[in-house]
Amino acid sequence: MTAFTTELLNKLPVAIAVVNDTGNVEYHNEEFGQSFGKEVTWIREAARAVAGERGWLQGFFMEGADRTIDVENSGRIYRVDRIMNVSQNGGQAVALSFEDVTEQRQAEQAKSDFTAQIVHDLRGPLSGIQGTLEFVLSQEGSKLDSLYTDLLNEAQRESERMMNLINEILDFSKIQSGSFAVESEPVRVAGLLKRAIRSLQSVASRDEIFLISAHGRDIPQILGSVEKLTQAIINLISNSLKFTPKKGLISVGAQIVRQGETPDAIVITVTDSGMGIKAADLQKLFEKYKQTGNKSFRGGGGTGLGLYIVKQIIEAHGGEVSVASIEGVGTSMVLKLPVKRAA
Ligand SMILES: Nc1ncnc2c1ncn2[C@@H]1O[C@H](COP(=O)(O)OP(=O)(O)O)[C@@H](O)[C@H]1O
Ligand SMILES: [Mg+2]
Repeated sequence: MTAFTTELLNKLPVAIAVVNDTGNVEYHNEEFGQSFGKEVTWIREAARAVAGERGWLQGFFMEGADRTIDVENSGRIYRVDRIMNVSQNGGQAVALSFEDVTEQRQAEQAKSDFTAQIVHDLRGPLSGIQGTLEFVLSQEGSKLDSLYTDLLNEAQRESERMMNLINEILDFSKIQSGSFAVESEPVRVAGLLKRAIRSLQSVASRDEIFLISAHGRDIPQILGSVEKLTQAIINLISNSLKFTPKKGLISVGAQIVRQGETPDAIVITVTDSGMGIKAADLQKLFEKYKQTGNKSFRGGGGTGLGLYIVKQIIEAHGGEVSVASIEGVGTSMVLKLPVKRAA
């Protein structure tokens, strides 16, 4: 490095270090020295602490890899940015900047906890409204004329949508805060499909859509969370309901994938005869906030979080998600879950 470069870097109020691919600090500026003392082994420690999980240091050497990452060390959180890759004495190195963002991250966490709490509290009054609507609509021989029935049905539809939004936001914030552990209970797959279908059957028949399940009889049990897996299937069926026209068909199925004789995985599919998804949109479908130009037949937009949540749930079970779709013909969402042998 030239004297000019060194002087320039020392004047910057940002902690900068040049790290080689073994985690050794080859150079650091004055700000880095002040922030982290002479203890430059800090980076190596941090690298070791998280390398097993994420290999962040290695990641910084790869082109196209994330250029920013949070690293925790001794209770502090640092935002590490890759400034550039440098070739040092024939070896690989990378110039990184470090910023202590502990207070900032704590404030963000407090804010999102608060939001999650409020969103959670919205559920109570909303289910009160839903209960009331359901009761009024279920009164036999009711004196309501059809105008009012239509309006009440509309109100019920909207409150369902609101409940979905609330649930998605809550699931999402759980995933974000890392408190998304998956229990390991025996799960009967046929039961899952039944539960998911039951909870949406009335919506389907109201919208004149056939919702059926099709699965073999000897589907083995898997290990996981009944509640979360049901949620994932419900998310998929809700999407199909949104993007399938009247008289359409949604079928929910389960099949066994065998490795020789022994069941290896269970494949759950939710297939609809809806509008389908453009090939160009398929890739990014499972990313958060991702929505396509598809317009729902049943009004209103969602959060774009549903499929992201499905993916997180399935991956937490060691499974995979995929999608096949033809525009104007329909969509098939595929969840593949491993059959774990109970030890
Ligand atoms: N069965 C489906 N048929 C057609 N498009 C779908 C289907 N499922 C998902 N999509 C498309 O993928 C997008 C993302 O879905 P999702 O993550 O559940 O978000 P949201 O339902 O809140 O829009 C939807 O907005 C829609 O454009
Ligand atoms: Mg959705």
